[in-house]
Parts: sequence; structure tokens; C-alpha cells
Amino acid sequence: MIDENTLGAGALSRDGVSAEQALDEVRRLRAGDRPTHGGRLFAYVYDPAVPGLDDLTAAAHSESAHVNGLDPTAFPSLLAMENALVGAAGRVLGGGPGTTAPDVVGSVTSGGTESLILAVKAARDAHPEIAAPRIVVPSTAHAAFAKAAHYLRVALDVVPVSPDTLRPEPAAMAAAIGPDTVLVACSAPSYAHGVVDPVAEIAAVAAEAGVRCHVDACFGGWSLPYLRRLGEPVPAFDFTVPGVTSISVDLHKYAYAPKGVSVLLHRDATGRAPQYFAYADWPGYTMINPVIASTRSGGPIAAAYATLRHLGDAGYLRLAATTRDAVAALADAVRAVDGLRLMAEPESTVVCFTAAEGGPDLFVLVDELTARGWHTQPQLSYADLPASVHLTVTASVAPRVAEFGPDLAAAVAATHASGPVRLPAEVASLVGVLTPEALTPEVVAGLAAGLGLGGGDSSGPLPDRMAVVNTLLDAAPSALRERLLVEFVGLLQRPDWSSGE
Ligand SMILES: Cc1ncc(COP(=O)(O)O)c(C=O)c1O
Repeated sequence: MIDENTLGAGALSRDGVSAEQALDEVRRLRAGDRPTHGGRLFAYVYDPAVPGLDDLTAAAHSESAHVNGLDPTAFPSLLAMENALVGAAGRVLGGGPGTTAPDVVGSVTSGGTESLILAVKAARDAHPEIAAPRIVVPSTAHAAFAKAAHYLRVALDVVPVSPDTLRPEPAAMAAAIGPDTVLVACSAPSYAHGVVDPVAEIAAVAAEAGVRCHVDACFGGWSLPYLRRLGEPVPAFDFTVPGVTSISVDLHKYAYAPKGVSVLLHRDATGRAPQYFAYADWPGYTMINPVIASTRSGGPIAAAYATLRHLGDAGYLRLAATTRDAVAALADAVRAVDGLRLMAEPESTVVCFTAAEGGPDLFVLVDELTARGWHTQPQLSYADLPASVHLTVTASVAPRVAEFGPDLAAAVAATHASGPVRLPAEVASLVGVLTPEALTPEVVAGLAAGLGLGGGDSSGPLPDRMAVVNTLLDAAPSALRERLLVEFVGLLQRPDWSSGE
């Protein structure tokens, strides 16, 4: 017997609510988020602060939201917009008619991770004769390569970077290439520190070995070419470099399109062919997917198309100049504070700093900055690289940048005053002895309670201050970090069984 009173739960109300109420609920939930606009968020969101752009992209998104990319013959509008995005990206990255890479082709994907998974898949499937394929990446390569390797059962050969330059040695990349290597990858720039790998040298050693070379320009592929045109010393990293066989660039990053759009480019159609998946051996429609998703909304693609059309080349050049100035001012603000040190001189749109000898506890500092309305991203220590604080800088930051220096100095002073994080004794004693296998649900629940996570009280599932959580993770080896993260996020992702009213 179904009890009709229990039919609604979570998002499902029994009789439906008014459109106003539904939208009002979305807005109320959104109020608890970090601010996506206003130039004080240094991760997750890429905001050009161009008046009217949000309205334009929302309208374009809604025009195409119900269009399905499953079948380009049914919706030629989507095919045309995708081809226009690929042409634009190919041109920005040194390919197309009249260049040394005239045959560049590509696909629009949902994001950087999907682009990288597909670059690895294309490389793997180009070599069906290799039974146990491998890829070579610098240790600063985005984690999405590890995800690709995991999903596609490809082994990952990680080459350490120099703690001084934060780049891999091309000779070390060359030495890591073996007979089963199907792809060598590098970043332009790396997400963590914003430094550009020695792409030309790495592509050369890959070409010498007859192996594909992917340049992950998801983060910087749309900003570096404009920074170069502004006179910045950006090395060649695109299709002008011999040996580069594919490049990814995310339009939802520095092309300032709303989320859900990246482009994966190949030097030619032969390189792209093994990226496709086709299947005709079932009684339904024949399936041919260039990307991982089958059904996909036209909304993000139309929004990206409208963004590029509206901003134009001149708009991107202006935004790059604004961003470059903001980066310089933020780096100056860091240099002016005793106890902080830039991890690298900024060469793209990232400012990344660490604590010098006797400097502040960075995880406390991040919380102090948050308390002052600046949302930065803590990065845990890794191998011989120290913990650091990452700032992705977008054009929207420029008008706020003068406020950052004084707030940073005040936050550092407050951090020194409060002292470094002390893990609760019961938590600290566990970290030293814990192994991933020993993490039973009871141990995780105890840790979470000790850290104030998963609350269940009115303060919500996350503590205001994350320093203690970051300190715990920082103290743990990476296998334990991974398990803890899975368990903690599992605690957050719980169904909402409330009545739906
Ligand atoms: C260099 C680089 N590659 C790949 C990605 C993954 O992109 P996404 O988060 O869109 O999947 C990122 C994201 O920041 C990145 O910076």
C-alpha cells in the first residue's frame, strides 16, 4: 500500500509549487554560496565583469537548452555553433588555413576533464596493439590525467618537477617514455602554480619517440595568446610547435563562457578518429559520439558561442590586459608581506604563494582571508613542494585589487596572533597510525565529529573554518588523503528525505 502522504520528498513536492516559489528557493539556496561575482573569489569561477554578458548568455542558453547534441543532423544549429567554436579555438592556438597546422579539427566537450579523458582515449585507441598502454605526465599535470588513466586502465608515469622551476626536465620526460607509452602530456600553464612547461622540448622528445604529445591548455589556452600579444614573454606552446598533436582549451575558463564547454583540438582528423565511439550493433538508433556524453544540452554551447561573438578578439585582448595588471598588483601585495613568498614569478593568470621560514600557518591564513571576504584556495604539500595558496585571477578582480594588500597584511597578523592549528588530541593521535584500510565508518564518524564536519546542527555540514581539516589532510599521505576525502564527501552527499513541502 502506498501512503500518498509520503509521495513527496526533497525536490519533489506533492502538488508542485508556483514558479515564483521554485525560483525563490533556488535563490535562497544560492545565497549560501561563495560570491561568483564581485572580484573576491580566486577559484572555481571565471568572471570578466562585462556588463550585460550574463543576460546574453542566459538568453542564448535558454534558446538552445532543449536541443540535443546526440544527433547533429537533427539539430544543425548545434553543429554550426560547435564548428564555429572549434574554428575560433584552433585559430587562437596557432592552427587553421595559412598556418603550419592547416588541418586542425576538434570537438566541443563538457569541460577540461572530459577533454583530457578523450585525449588519452584517442591516444590509447590509436594503438590497439599495445596491451598495457602508459602515459607520461609531469607531477604538476592536472589530476584529470590520473582520472583518465584510472577510467581507461592506462598506467600513469609521473615525472617529478624541479622544486625551483616547478617544471619537469625534458630529459626526464624523455627517459620516462617506453615502448608502451601512447601519450606524453604537459601543461600551459599548470593549474597549481601557473607556470608553462617547456612545451617545445617535451614535444620534441615525444616526436623523436614517435609518441603523441598533448598540451593541456585547459586553463591558459585562451589567455596566454592574448598575454603574448600584449608583450608578455609567453613561449610557444600551441600548434606552431612541431610535435604537439593535440591541445585542450576550456572556454568556461578564460574565454569567460558559462560552465560546460571545453574544446579538444587535434592536429588532423587521423589523430581525432580514435576519439569517436560508434555502435550499430543493437536495434535502436545507430550511435556515433565524438565525446563521452551522448545526450547533451545545446545550452552551454550556445552560451559559449554568444560569449565569443559578443566579446570578440578585441574584448579578449582588453580583458587580458586588465587581468595582467591585477596579477601584477596581487603579486606585489604578496611580496610586501614578511613571511610570504611567491612560489613562482607570475607568468600567466595565477598568483601562488607559500610561507617563508617563520611565516604564518597558511591554512589559518586562508580562513582569515575568507573572514575578510577573500576566497582563496589552499593547496596541500606534495613531495618536496610546500603547501601553498592559489589565486586564479580573472578580470573582475582588477577593481578590488587595491583592497587586497591591506587585508592580506591584516590576515597575516591575525594568523600570527592566533598561532598555528592544533589538531584535537584524539584526531592527532589517529593520523599517525591510520591507514586507508583502517578507516571504518566508525573511525570516519569519530574523525568527522572531532573536526566539526557533517554537523547535523544549524551551522550546516561544514565548519566555518577549514584550517583544521586542511591540517589533517596535509599530515596524511596521499592514499589516506584520498580515502578521507571520499569518506568526508560521502558524509555530505546524503539524500534529502524531507517532505518536499
Ligand atoms: C590545467 C587544467 N587542466 C584541466 C582542468 C580540468 O578542467 P575541468 O574542471 O573543467 O574539468 C583544469 C581545471 O582547473 C586545469 O586547470
